[in-house]
Amino acid sequence: MSQTSLWWHDAVIYQVYPRSFADSDGDGMGDLPGITSHLADLRELGVDAVWLSPFYPSPQHDAGYDVADYRNVDPRFGTLADADRMIAEAHALGLKVVVDLVPNHTSSDHVWFQAALGAAPGSPERERYIFRDGKGPDGEQPPNGWRSTFGGPAWTRVPDGQWYLHLFDVTQPDLDWDNAEVRAEFLDILRFWLDRGVHGFRVDVAHGLVKDRDLADWDYPDQGPWVVPPEDNRPPMWDQEGVHDIYRAWREVLDSYGPDRMLVAEAWVQPVERITRYVRPDEMHQAFNFPYLFAHWTAADQRAVIEQSLATNATVGAITTWVLSNHDVLRHTTRLGYREPLKQLSGIGPGDPQPDAALGLRRARAATLLMLALPGSAYLYQGEELGLPDHTEIPDELRQDPTWERSGHTERGRDGCRVPIPWEADAPSYGFGPSDHSWLPQPASWAEYARDRQAGVPGSTLELYRDALRLRRSHSLGTGTLTWDSTGFAFRNGDVRVLTNFDGEPVALPVGAGVLLSSEPLDGDGRVPTDVTVWFTV
Ligand code: GLC
Repeated sequence: MSQTSLWWHDAVIYQVYPRSFADSDGDGMGDLPGITSHLADLRELGVDAVWLSPFYPSPQHDAGYDVADYRNVDPRFGTLADADRMIAEAHALGLKVVVDLVPNHTSSDHVWFQAALGAAPGSPERERYIFRDGKGPDGEQPPNGWRSTFGGPAWTRVPDGQWYLHLFDVTQPDLDWDNAEVRAEFLDILRFWLDRGVHGFRVDVAHGLVKDRDLADWDYPDQGPWVVPPEDNRPPMWDQEGVHDIYRAWREVLDSYGPDRMLVAEAWVQPVERITRYVRPDEMHQAFNFPYLFAHWTAADQRAVIEQSLATNATVGAITTWVLSNHDVLRHTTRLGYREPLKQLSGIGPGDPQPDAALGLRRARAATLLMLALPGSAYLYQGEELGLPDHTEIPDELRQDPTWERSGHTERGRDGCRVPIPWEADAPSYGFGPSDHSWLPQPASWAEYARDRQAGVPGSTLELYRDALRLRRSHSLGTGTLTWDSTGFAFRNGDVRVLTNFDGEPVALPVGAGVLLSSEPLDGDGRVPTDVTVWFTV
C-alpha cells in the first residue's frame, strides 16, 4: 500500500459522543442503535470515519471514561451485537470506526479493582493499581500531595489503611503500568476490538499511564491533564519517558493488522515538540493538536500555530491533525463568542458573562473553513456541523460532570458541550430520541440549529460543512502542501487559495479570483469582511 493511500493521512474524523448523539429507545440517553441509524447522515455529510467516546459497561461516574469491562457494551448503549452491527453498517457506508481506549485507569467497579479491595496489602491484586501506605502517624496522610484533575486529593484511603491513586475521580483508580499483567491485558483488549473490525483507537490520557517511580511531590497549583505546566517544572505524573515503550508495543499489534489501523493520542503536553514524541515512526500515528484548539483568533497566533504544527510533525514524519472542539472543552462557537480570550476551558453557567452568539457562530464558521483547508487529518465534534454552541445556562443542580462536585462547586465542568444534539426542530427532544427525555436539558433556542432546518438551505452551517468536505476531497487538500502568501493571512494548498480576514477593513481578493466557498457572503464590492474565510482559485 502506498503511503498516500492510507486513509488516516487526510481523514476527517467525526467524534460521536454516544450519550448525546441519538437515542433509539427514548430513555434520554443516546445508544448504539441510534448511532447506526444516523451513520448514513454522516456519510452524506462527507466525513471519512467516526470516533466513538466510550460505550463500555460503566457506572458512568465520568460519562463512561470509567470503564468496568473493556470487552463489552453498557446496557444503556446496547449490546455487543449492536456494536458489531454499527461497525458493519459503517463499513458498508465506507466509514471507518475508531473506538476510545481508556488505559490510565479503570472504573472502581472493574473486577480487578474489586479484587484489589478484597485482597491484602502487597497482594498481586493490589499491584495492578497504585496502592501505597500513607504518611504520618498511622499513615493518616496520603502518600503525596498530588491533586485529582476533578478537584480534591488524588488519593483515597481504603478500610485497611492503604491509599490508592486516582488522578481523576475517586471511582477511577489508576492502573500500575509497571505491572506485566496490566500490559498484557491491554494488548489483548486492542486485539479484541481490532478483530471486530475497528480501524483505530483514540487513546485517553495517553500522557498519564506511567508515573514517576518515587511518586515525588510536585509543587504546582493546577495538576490537571488539561493545563500544561511549563517545561522547567515537569510533572511527575504526566508525560513520563516510560509511556513510549507502551505505545511501541501497541504499534506492533496494530501493524500486525495492517497499515490502515491507527492510534491517536490524547496527550496534553507542551511544548509542541513533546507531542511529536508520541507520533514517532514506531509509536502512534496521530496526536490531537490541542495548541491549535487553544490558539487565539488572530492572524499572528493562527499562523504561528499552523506553521509550528506542520514543522514539528515533519521532524518525525507524522501527520498533522487539527481540531477545534471536543467533549472536554467549550465548543468553538462558544469560545469564539468572547472578544477577550477565555481563561477557562469549560463550564459557563447561569450568571456568568454569556458569549455573543452571532459573533461566535460567524467566527466558528470562518475557523472551520480555515481548518478544513489545512493539509493533514481533521477532527469534528458532533453538532459543530450545525453551528451548535455550548448550553451555557444549565441549572447547576442538573450538572453531571464530576468536576462540579469535586471542585466544591467552583468549576462547572464540561456538561455544556455534551448536551444531546438537535435533529428535528419540531420533534420531542428535537429528534434526539422518541421521547422528550434527555440526560442533560436542551436549551429552548435549539430548534433553529436542528439538522432538518438546515438541510438543503444554502448558507446554513450544515451546508457549509458539506460543501467544505466535498471540496476538500475533490481538491485533495488533506494531502496537499501549504504555501503562505507574502502578505495578509492567506495561503495556497494545491490549486486552492485560502484567505481569512481576522479583523479590520474588508480585504479584496486578487483579480480574477473565482470563489469556491465562503464562510459568509462577501461584501457588495466582492471583498472579504472581518471574521470570514474564503476558498478561491485564480
Ligand atoms: C480524557 C477524557 C475526559 C475524561 C478523562 C478521564 O481527558 O477526554 O473526558 O474525563 O480523560 O478519563
